[in-house]
Amino acid sequence: MFDVRGSVVLVTGGSRGIGRAIALELARGGADVAVHFRAESARAAEVVREAKALGVDARTFGADLTDREAAVGVVGAAGQWKGRLDGLVTSAGIYRGPSLEEVGAREWEETERTDLEGTFWTVQAAAPFLRKSDRAAVVTISSVLGAHAAVGGAPYQAAKGAVEQLTRALALELAPSIRVNSVAPGFVRTDMNRAGHEDPVFRQKVADATPLGRWGEPDDIAPVVRYLLSRQASWVTGIVLGVDGGIALR
Ligand SMILES: NC(=O)c1ccc[n+]([C@@H]2O[C@H](COP(=O)([O-])OP(=O)(O)OC[C@H]3O[C@@H](n4cnc5c(N)ncnc54)[C@H](OP(=O)(O)O)[C@@H]3O)[C@@H](O)[C@H]2O)c1
Repeated sequence: MFDVRGSVVLVTGGSRGIGRAIALELARGGADVAVHFRAESARAAEVVREAKALGVDARTFGADLTDREAAVGVVGAAGQWKGRLDGLVTSAGIYRGPSLEEVGAREWEETERTDLEGTFWTVQAAAPFLRKSDRAAVVTISSVLGAHAAVGGAPYQAAKGAVEQLTRALALELAPSIRVNSVAPGFVRTDMNRAGHEDPVFRQKVADATPLGRWGEPDDIAPVVRYLLSRQASWVTGIVLGVDGGIALR
């Protein structure tokens, strides 16, 4: 239904969690996928194997996106793979939840450099390859915490809020050739918050706070990203789409 057939899409953070589900959803839709990872090369290779079994082409691309040169290099390699990019999804990210007093330079920098700067350099490096496409689209991954405050993890919340404004700024700057949108997930069961969903008390607290009554799964997010990349979304740009079981309503 959401047509991405024949597209070439780079998914950062495609080795695990939400990025992995997005890469496989795109592969199911007939898109070739460049599966980016930082350290988990074996898991990225497994995603590539699964994507290829769905009948598309796929390849792994590794880089630490906190390193600008590495980010530019890996996006260039992914762009040269097929000579263009039709889509970019920036799912690579980390979450750290320290209180204000616990945030040192390391905690601040690793969060901002991964979640905000990594997103920026990736989009910047991808733009020349996206401009070669007649259906180019970027989907950034924010969080419900990009617009709704919680106690703890202020650097993460600041980074995600900035990703949302970056999305709007770039949607304007890159129009009409490249659409730029964002998806803001609620609590999704991945490695990122394994400690949270394995703790029965916290697990229930999140379920109770979520109007739809449960945690999200990566496959709750992936089809929405596919929609934003698809031809059906060809008049949609600059939005932040919450996919959060309604938790942002609270
Ligand atoms: N899970 C949630 O509840 C939730 C909620 C809202 C928003 N989000 C956002 O959704 C996105 C994906 O999260 P997730 O839950 O799928 O996380 P995850 O399962 O922990 O996966 C994180 C991904 O990011 C990659 N990555 C981490 N640091 C990196 C770096 N410095 N350079 C390059 N790649 C890096 C990892 O690569 P390796 O596998 O190689 O380590 C992995 O592919 C993130 O932006 C996150 O903030 C998640």
